[in-house]
Amino acid sequence: MKKSNIKHYKISCQVNGNKFTGYIDPNLRLIDFLRDVLNLKGTKEGCGEGECGACMVLVNGVSVNSCLVMAFSVDGKSIITIEGVDDIKYGKSLKEGFKRKAAVQCGFCTPGFIISASELLEKNPDATEEDIKKALSGNICRCTGYKKIIEAVEWARKNDK
Ligand code: FES
Ligand code: FES
Repeated sequence: MKKSNIKHYKISCQVNGNKFTGYIDPNLRLIDFLRDVLNLKGTKEGCGEGECGACMVLVNGVSVNSCLVMAFSVDGKSIITIEGVDDIKYGKSLKEGFKRKAAVQCGFCTPGFIISASELLEKNPDATEEDIKKALSGNICRCTGYKKIIEAVEWARKNDK
């Protein structure tokens, strides 16, 4: 997508606990703000159309596809990206679970899965396998199949401290 050089929309938000205040291009998507303005490259762009979940981040605790959201819409909000998940409940355990269960191959989808799973476990610490499958239905992995990913989330659910 061709980007405009206009930078005139002022926003203030928190990203991974750090305050940002500045002027941004009103046409900027949230994913571009995170990756290109803040240099947080952990959030990935797969489809760019809201289908794959690779770009998921939490906005005020709710997972969103950052390729579909305009950056100006997060004014006044709190965002967590994969770089900030150590500071949210289940974040560290999910990372550990994905490692232990070998649920990562290329890793491109992993940030999105961890964001989705953290939202699920925060809302439902007793999530069943079916709950996990349902919650992760908006995330696509082209490498691993889903069995190991589900096992990783179950490991995190049981072992979070
Ligand atoms: S890149 Fe956003 S959903 Fe695929
Ligand atoms: S590990 Fe490669 S897309 Fe999921």
